Amino acid sequence: MKNKNLNKKNVRLEKYISPIKYDITLRPDLENFTFEGFESIEVDISKSTNLVTLHSKELSIETAEVKINKEKVFSKKITYDEKKELVIFNFPVKIPIGKHKINIVFKGILNDKMRGFYKSSYDYEGKINHLATTQFEATDARRAFPCFDEPSQKSIFNVSLIVPKGKTAISNTLPVSVQEHESGYEIVKFSPTPKMSTYLLAFIIGDFEYIESKTKNGVLVRIYTTLGKKHQANFALDCAVKTLEFYEKYFNIKYPLNTLDMIAIPDFASGAMENWGAVTYRETAILVDQVNSSTANKQWVALVIAHELAHQWFGNLVTMKWWTHLWLNEGFASYIEYLAVDKLFPDWNIWTQFANHDLGVALKLDSLKHTHPIEVEVHHPDEIGEIFDEVSYSKGASVIRMLAEYLGEVNFRDGLRYYLKKHSYKNTETIHLWQAFEKVSKKPVSKLMKNWTGVSGYPIVKASLNKDKLSLTQDRFFSSIFSKLKNKEKSTWEIPISFENKSVQKVLLSKKSESFMLKHPNSPIKVNIGEKGFFRTMYSKELLMRLYEPVANKEILPIDRLGIIRDLFALSESGDISTEIVLEFLTAYKEEDDYTVWLEIAGGLSKLKQLLAKTKSIQNLDRFIIKLFSPIFDKIGWEKIQGEAHTDTLLRSLILTKLGRSKDERVLSKAKYLFNEMQNGLHIDPDLRATLYNLVAIFGDKKDYNTLLERYKKEALHEEKNRIGNALGEFKNTKLLCETINFSISENVRLQDSVSIISSVGSNPDGRSIWLKFIKQNWKTLLNRYGDGGHTLGRLVKAISLSAEKEHLAKFTEFFNKNKAPGAARAIEQVKEKLNSNISWLERDGKNIDKFFKSVIK
Ligand code: BES
Ligand code: ZN
Repeated sequence: MKNKNLNKKNVRLEKYISPIKYDITLRPDLENFTFEGFESIEVDISKSTNLVTLHSKELSIETAEVKINKEKVFSKKITYDEKKELVIFNFPVKIPIGKHKINIVFKGILNDKMRGFYKSSYDYEGKINHLATTQFEATDARRAFPCFDEPSQKSIFNVSLIVPKGKTAISNTLPVSVQEHESGYEIVKFSPTPKMSTYLLAFIIGDFEYIESKTKNGVLVRIYTTLGKKHQANFALDCAVKTLEFYEKYFNIKYPLNTLDMIAIPDFASGAMENWGAVTYRETAILVDQVNSSTANKQWVALVIAHELAHQWFGNLVTMKWWTHLWLNEGFASYIEYLAVDKLFPDWNIWTQFANHDLGVALKLDSLKHTHPIEVEVHHPDEIGEIFDEVSYSKGASVIRMLAEYLGEVNFRDGLRYYLKKHSYKNTETIHLWQAFEKVSKKPVSKLMKNWTGVSGYPIVKASLNKDKLSLTQDRFFSSIFSKLKNKEKSTWEIPISFENKSVQKVLLSKKSESFMLKHPNSPIKVNIGEKGFFRTMYSKELLMRLYEPVANKEILPIDRLGIIRDLFALSESGDISTEIVLEFLTAYKEEDDYTVWLEIAGGLSKLKQLLAKTKSIQNLDRFIIKLFSPIFDKIGWEKIQGEAHTDTLLRSLILTKLGRSKDERVLSKAKYLFNEMQNGLHIDPDLRATLYNLVAIFGDKKDYNTLLERYKKEALHEEKNRIGNALGEFKNTKLLCETINFSISENVRLQDSVSIISSVGSNPDGRSIWLKFIKQNWKTLLNRYGDGGHTLGRLVKAISLSAEKEHLAKFTEFFNKNKAPGAARAIEQVKEKLNSNISWLERDGKNIDKFFKSVIK
């Protein structure tokens, strides 16, 4: 064990040699999927040495030379350390202290794994067309050229690409020259980049078309798509221009380049990547088709763009010193994307959605014992890939939001401005951000934030009455008794808490327990106004009952109504309250009309449905759901009303899906009818399509299956393909589910899309066993596809998390005891913990839930 750790830790480069400038020339071959490269790295050496060690992975190095006193000295020996992803050059003479140029000639492959320098393919007018593109974050620049592949080794890059004439070549900056090269090729030289980290470099070569515009400050913004798709780029272009203008003002720092390119790539591992000046996207995260894109997808595009453009400052201009501080990038961008989208689309109520998407998601993951602190020690690429998770992103975003509330808008903004200015073109750790806020606000930020980013988990705040006082007590919250019992650490947090008791009161709970004078001790008290704090609230019985009326009458804001029910669901799962209490409290939401509140309720009930899937209570739960959702269905119906609110459109799809899933005949028959008409050519509103496909699948047969499958194969719009692909995992018939899961790794499905189809089977109660079997039988293939670090394997294994069946836990555990899963170690522990938790929840509350249903549904 010890040795293994040592190996993993010992992967950092020496400090006595660092890059100043890279001149890189690459020549990709789009027929044989290889590339040739030449680079000259200007380095600064502070200790005389024979050995030069660089990162390199799957590259074959032909020569390496260094000029010493105008004389070329070649490396005698070139050795690779594959485990550490290094190449070591051994020069026959010592390189003296000072600045030198190291010249390296190398070769590599354009791989099909969506990492490093890779190929992507698409169909155009019946022919397959290829392009080459890059994805370097976190540690894959080393697959494209030997380099100092650590975020603090910032440098200037001069990139040249040798490409067949007529191909588009894109990199971080604009070309300075395009010259004829040998027959049929040209060499495109790009202007020097700013001083930056390797993971932000990008090259894209292929056939593209684009549309362009300019910001008020003259930045050229272009959206590139593969051939035939530029008409889907308008929304993105508009968002990009406006978002860039917004950030320039907000951060008070001009975007440092004169161009921003955003490129839609047909094969892409994550959602998008913030390469400086050349942001790459999965097609679904940037393209919006006027006729076929849903409102939800459009919203997603706006958020992703706002996220990636935030990185141009937060991440690119100022970068984390090491991946331990990854959250400075991802947590911050995940927060500020909402600020930008709220400015651009004020009627989307995007901050309320934050409470469900980011805050809700983070509170879930971080309630496990197998979570991790936001700031976490990482060394090996496998460990780095693992932390691109909800803790870094969503908990990061949530604690920043809490801090923003504590500091106030102006202090928060000014602190950011100070931080960005002070550390431009440099690297930082978390403490530097706190110091900036302290400087402008004079508030003790480091002390306040210490445990929010330094230790795992978060508190549950218990609120009860103590005569005229509100008594608040904090403990770490665990989503299951099982996890709580295993925990020995005792942390307390400094929690800024606001509560509404006719008027707003703000307090700081820094001890385990404290009482606060109430102005209106007999009135309702909502703790954590606006759900700004990163904690859950558990009300005493009395205080909870007092909230029933204000919720039912919608006297408190949607975000607070959402928070109350979200925490109740969580407390029932953890065993702090019994599940009937939530179900009873849900009746307060009869007249609810807010999309995000319904989204929260629907999520809580889906989880319960998964828990009860194999019990006899399931039918009663369905009836309960139909009853609860019927009033809002009567209001919102099937038809879009011209000019209706953005969130009402989202609400309609949600309600219809929820009712249909619970076998509401009114919804099912219409869904089937519309689906059939669609096959006859009827245009279906894209906002309804996912609903139709899912419902048809859940209650469908082989014929429906084939219809969907054929549509999947023919469809060109990725967004539509995904809707269909996910529906393929919704069938009940196990034979069809087997077909789906095998189809997911066939040549009909892109590598980027397989995992979500596989997961749709794994999260279907009728597909869980099939999923387990599939994982077992295809593990080699899956490892080969996704096992090279990154976070995809982690996402894959999580699909089974909703099961409450002991057999699944046993099989899952047994399999992963024997099989390696690089980059998914923590995810596997999380899955086991969740399965254990579900099993104990069902054992504890199953019978009472059944009784409850029997008493309320006659
Ligand atoms: N920097 C990430 C891309 C990334 C993710 C690189 C994982 C390496 C590993 C990018 O900024 C990002 O966070 N993208 C998100 C979308 C975003 C809107 C949350 C993604 O890809 O999911
Ligand atoms: Zn990001």
